[in-house]
This record gives sequence, structure tokens and C-alpha cells, in this order.
Amino acid sequence: MHDRRPFVGGNWKMNTNAESASSLARGVVEACESTHSAVELAVFPPSPYLLTVSSIFRSRSTSTKVGAQDVYHQPNGAYTGEISVEMVTDCGCTHVLAGHSERRHIIGESDEVINAKVRAILAGGLTCVLCVGETLEEREAGQTDVVNERQIRTGLAEVGQREMEHIIIAYEPVWAIGTGKTASPEEAQTTHRAIRGLLADLYTPEVADRVRIIYGGSVKPSNAASLFGQDDIDGGLIGGASLKVEDFGLIAKAAAAE
Ligand code: PGA
Repeated sequence: MHDRRPFVGGNWKMNTNAESASSLARGVVEACESTHSAVELAVFPPSPYLLTVSSIFRSRSTSTKVGAQDVYHQPNGAYTGEISVEMVTDCGCTHVLAGHSERRHIIGESDEVINAKVRAILAGGLTCVLCVGETLEEREAGQTDVVNERQIRTGLAEVGQREMEHIIIAYEPVWAIGTGKTASPEEAQTTHRAIRGLLADLYTPEVADRVRIIYGGSVKPSNAASLFGQDDIDGGLIGGASLKVEDFGLIAKAAAAE
């Protein structure tokens, strides 16, 4: 039996403003207070609000973490518009997403760029949530495992065994993100199991057993418990539902009940 602590992240994407980000942060503190002993929680606000959200969390002494949705892999310099690992650390972040499907498919980030970001995040001492997942076309062509394998192999290139303690894998089938369609708990479990098998091959069975593999894609209070109840699903990355305090709280509680 594994004893992986579930992780639930709220990916706010390009939503909220100064006022709503603050009230959402305060709401999350209240709605999730009872889950902290059982679940690791983080929210990923838009970059301009990272500092505000971390100050709110600090002033309320919550253990909910703050994460950035993206960083650039270079430490500093002439990279107009980008933000570095050091900058998000200054803003109170302990976690960063890398390889989210919206960055892969809308912004056009390659596996190699994502790997550079993963290594920069780890080198900066932060935890990286590496997101992977297939498109509908790839799923229908039977390519789910092949796509995940490529994204994980390249995404984790030159990431050592020790550093895997600071990696969380988020499996997010692209066809389930923001669409209201969710992979069935069994479908998701099959893919999570395959990812864990791949991590055992790339590292060791012990490393694979410790890494948290979370699910993302239209997770809501009504389906969270059945997804998190699967053996290899260790929590979730929540988009739309993380913008609603009550829903996010219920999802955190579903993870705490596992
Ligand atoms: P969703 O997004 O919950 O709105 O589908 C999940 C994600 O993109 O992380």
C-alpha cells in the first residue's frame, strides 16, 4: 500500500482580478481549513496576484501553498514579458506548473522548452507539477500512452532520482479540459497506472510508488470522489471548479476522505 499524500491544486488560469483573486484566496482558506492534515493544497493564481494571495495566506497562517502557472527557464536578462523562478519565489511560490496543455497547444511550447522549465524550477528548489495528456485525435488513434510517454520522457530528461521528490505529474487529457467531459475513473486509472509503470522504468519502482500522479480535466464535486478513489490517482488539478470556493472546498474534502 502506498501512503502518498493527496495533492489538490486550483489552476485559476487567466481569470480573476485584484478584488476577486483576494476574495477567492480568503474563501479557499476558510473552505479548506479542515482538510490540511490529510491533503496538500495549492492555488495557482495569475502572476500579477501571486504576491497578494501569498500575503493573504501568510496572514492567516494557512498551509495552502501558492504556485505560479508558468516561468521562463532563464534566470534573468533580456526576455521581455517573462518571469523567472527567482521572481515567483520572491512572491511566495513553492510550486510551478509546467507543460499545461494550454501552453503546449495554444502558446506552442515544445517538450524541450518544457524540460528546460522543469529543470529550472527544480534547480530553484521549487516543486514542479508537470502536466501531460493526449488530444482527442491522439486518443482515438490509440496513442494515449505513447503521447504521455514522450511528454514524460522528454519533460523529465536530466531530472535525477532525488529530484523526483519535487515532481508531481498531472495527467490531463486535453479533450477533458474545460469541456465538461471527464475520463471515467477506470479510464483515468488505467492511464495513471501506465504512467506509474513508466516512472518505474525511468527511475525505480520505489520512486514510482512515491510520485503523486494527479488527474485534471473537468473535475467537480460530483465526480471527485470516484476519481480520487482510484489506486493510482493521488488528487487533482482543478480549473473551472477552483474558481468557486464551495466547489473547490468540496473537492479538497473528497481528496481528504481517501
Ligand atoms: P478544468 O481545467 O478543470 O476546467 O477542466 C483543468 C486544468 O486545465 O488544469
